[in-house]
Amino acid sequence: MKKLFTILVGISLNIFYGCTSSIPIPTNTIAQGERLNDLKQGRELFVYKCSGCHSLYPPSSYSQKEWNEILPEMNTKAQTTTRESFLIKQYIFTFSQ
Ligand code: HEC
Repeated sequence: MKKLFTILVGISLNIFYGCTSSIPIPTNTIAQGERLNDLKQGRELFVYKCSGCHSLYPPSSYSQKEWNEILPEMNTKAQTTTRESFLIKQYIFTFSQ
């Protein structure tokens, strides 16, 4: 029984970390100060605004060029403001292919 429990906890942790690690969290090794704040805000907006219709596509799924083609249409769908679109793009580009 205890073993089963350990396995189940292991599996759920795997699922949890597996999902979040593809949507990376900006840290101070990547950027500092205001730029780090922008990236953190960009991640929040990305998670909040871009997960309503489909599951999140990790930034690393596409190159910057591909994101440049995809984002205008998705910004329209997500009805983001100019500022929000900018922050989401900064975040995605930081972790894109
Ligand atoms: C109102 C619903 C909606 C919202 C909000 C939305 N999307 Fe989408 N997204 C779609 C639909 C529908 C498709 C698939 C068809 C298409 O490409 O239009 C899609 C496809 C995609 C694709 C795959 C495109 C490809 O060519 O393979 C990516 C990447 C994507 N969305 C990213 C985003 C991002 C980033 C945001 C936030 C800015 C976002 N989506 C918000 C509806 C939405």
